[in-house]
Amino acid sequence: MEQKATESKPVIVSGIQPSGQLALGNYVGAMKNWVKLQADYFGIYIVVDLHAITVRQNPAELRQRALSFAAQYIAAGIDPEKNIIFMQSHVPQHSELAWILNCNTYMGELNRMTQFKDKSTKHEDNINSGLYTYPSLMAADILLYQADLVPVGHDQKQHLELTRTLAQRFNHYYSPTFKVPEPYIAASGARIMSLQDPTKKMSKSDDNPNNYIALLDEPSVILKKIKRAVTDSGTSVTYDAKNRPGLANLLTIYSVLGEMAIDDVITQYDGKGFGVLKEDLGNLIVNYLTPFQRKYKELMSEKNYLESILKESAAKAQHIAQRTLSKVHRKVGFVQFK
Ligand code: TYM
Repeated sequence: MEQKATESKPVIVSGIQPSGQLALGNYVGAMKNWVKLQADYFGIYIVVDLHAITVRQNPAELRQRALSFAAQYIAAGIDPEKNIIFMQSHVPQHSELAWILNCNTYMGELNRMTQFKDKSTKHEDNINSGLYTYPSLMAADILLYQADLVPVGHDQKQHLELTRTLAQRFNHYYSPTFKVPEPYIAASGARIMSLQDPTKKMSKSDDNPNNYIALLDEPSVILKKIKRAVTDSGTSVTYDAKNRPGLANLLTIYSVLGEMAIDDVITQYDGKGFGVLKEDLGNLIVNYLTPFQRKYKELMSEKNYLESILKESAAKAQHIAQRTLSKVHRKVGFVQFK
């Protein structure tokens, strides 16, 4: 009954790669919106481990990190009774649909993907075909569940556009099969920048941990990282993302976590100097993350509970995904037995 009730709601699909450490950018750009939207949507939240191995991972660390990410989804406020949270590798339909979508994706389209270009520059010794065809797998993640909405940060916009193109192409060539999903990219916070180089986005797998706040950073570490964040000189507080990107980034984080308009944050701190703003922002983040970190520790000490959620969710996901995949098999002309 519960499953029916939730499934009658519009569907959200989103995911995060278990690489590096979950960072404030991921929270502000994506997870916070998952939590905000969950009252009105049935949420499908995936730890996308298949995506993570497009770059080299240490197996033991990957295993531990994937579980930790699932616990962090729940600790952030995703209710596992009302949504499903699972490992992408536990639902084989993702790889199966990805293959079929790959056969409908043009190399010219994949060549244009900026994430592929960035990652192949960063991992020159391992430019593998998985990294290249990654966007078709992401499209499969979304289209399998007939998603209505995909809440992501700004850097995923291009992948979302390709997902929509692939859905439309398939629907047109075969017949209507996939819902064409809408991106949900918040007006503020969809691109949180690196703390030391605010012209680059904050990345959870940055080699320099001072560039990001990990959601599991100790309070003293958070305070230190914000204190050291790059801002330009001057005391006037203005929002100018182009010329004062460091300050604009801090104001954005303050505004999203403090639920205040940027203009109000500016009014509050203008003339007080950046030291005060940084100290208050550091404390705001620490206070924000304290209950999250507490809940996370509890969950990690109840591994059986976490495992049961992941197992049940994967079974539900397989069920939904198979409905779409069977339809796709029929449409493309694969033999099916009753
Ligand atoms: P990933 O793992 O790089 O990032 C996870 C989510 O966090 C957002 N994000 C940010 N938002 C704001 N500021 C930042 N600095 C920042 N850095 C990351 C990302 O936009 C993303 O929403 N391909 C995806 C994962 C994925 C996926 C999916 C997402 C796989 N399948 C299906 C949605 C639906 C990725 O690499 O995200």
